Formats: sequence, C-alpha cells, structure tokens
Amino acid sequence: MIYMLDTANLKDIARCVDLYPITGVTTNPSIIAKENRPLADILRDIKKIIGDDIMLHAQVMGKDADTMVKEAYSLQEVVGSNFVVKIPATAEGIKAMKIISKKGDLRITATAILSPQQALMAAVAGAEFLAPYVNRLDNICADGVKVVADIVNLLSKHGLKAKVLAASFKNVQQVHDVSMTGAQSATIAPDVFEQLIQHPLTDSGVAQFVRDWEGVYGKDKTVLDVL
Ligand code: E4P
Repeated sequence: MIYMLDTANLKDIARCVDLYPITGVTTNPSIIAKENRPLADILRDIKKIIGDDIMLHAQVMGKDADTMVKEAYSLQEVVGSNFVVKIPATAEGIKAMKIISKKGDLRITATAILSPQQALMAAVAGAEFLAPYVNRLDNICADGVKVVADIVNLLSKHGLKAKVLAASFKNVQQVHDVSMTGAQSATIAPDVFEQLIQHPLTDSGVAQFVRDWEGVYGKDKTVLDVL
C-alpha cells in the first residue's frame, strides 16, 4: 500500500511524515484554500518538510486543457522534484492528460473520479494515479468501495500500469474495505490516518507490559538500561 496524506496543514504533515510510512502528500483546491495563504508559499513550506523523497500532488484550476497544461508546468517549477499534477477527469482534463503524457515529463493524478469509466479513460490518457472519491460516493449511496474495486479490476483486465489512489475517506472501515480491493494507494486526511493504528487492546496491552516490567526493573527503565 502506498500511503499518502491528504492535507496542507504543516503541523499535521510534519507529525505524520515523521511517524508513518508516508510516500506522498496530496492537496486539492479546498485543502489549499483552507490554509488561506499564497499557494506558492504553502507548496514550498510543505516541500521543506517532506524533502525530495516524498511526492507532492497539487491540482490545476483551469477550465480548458491548454490552461491546465500551463498551470501544471508552473506548479512543477514551484514544487520541483517529485511533483505530481492533479487534473480532474473532465473532458478538458482528459485532453490535458493526453498532452502532458505525450510530452512524458510530468506525472499525473487524475482526480475527482466518481465512476470506473472516468478512471479507465484517464488511465488510457496517461494518468499514473487515479483518485476515486470513496466517501462522496458513499454519501449518495453509490458504494465507493465497489467503484474502487471495479477500477482495480479494469486496470488489471486491460493491462494498464496506472494505480488507484483511493481518496475521500471519513472512517477507518472505508480505508480497510478499499485496501481489501487491492487498490495500490490511498490518500487519507490526518485524523483518519492516525486512527488506522488505534486499538484499545493495544493500549491496554502496552500499559500492562509497562506495569509488569516496572514492577521488576524500576520506573522508566528501557531494555538498554537493564541489559
Ligand atoms: C483527493 O484527491 C481528494 O481531493 C480528497 O480526498 C477529497 O476528500 P473529501 O471528499 O473529504 O473532500
């Protein structure tokens, strides 16, 4: 599973990138707008935290393909290495993906995917990642996990290299169900991300280990202290 963090909040990014095996940070226009600062500053600040080894995805806003393509390359200039441009899976977006993938010098995430056929076309147009919105589908009783499973299946049946980047999660169950479909990656907001490894029995189990250990070896002693 390729884990990505869906936020532009610097504190959350710094914490989660330090703790968890995260290989990408994704943003969208709503996430960026929440920060209420100049776009280039936000992207540069994220980049300072994540460095060159972690992907940074940022989205175009143009209404036509030519503008989207120009935005994509301008964003790349700001972000530099390991940049992935997010382009909505609209008709103009698909055209922009074709243009960029033909040039072959920029990685693409097709975003705002709500149906398997949008995903299939974006993959054929050259997108590397396909981002279906799980919770937004669940909100209209359209089974987000089933849509992800269909996309995983289509990619395999058609021998396409694109990867599913499942997005829009509101709870751990959705992330679990999506991971069971074989989706290759997921982008998850920090609050849901941190819940992925929470379990009350883990907490009580670790607390019991501490009590047993300290009863014999003393308070705050590590293995290093007693070996
Ligand atoms: C990622 O590509 C999406 O922008 C994001 O996951 C959408 O999440 P939301 O439905 O919680 O806004």
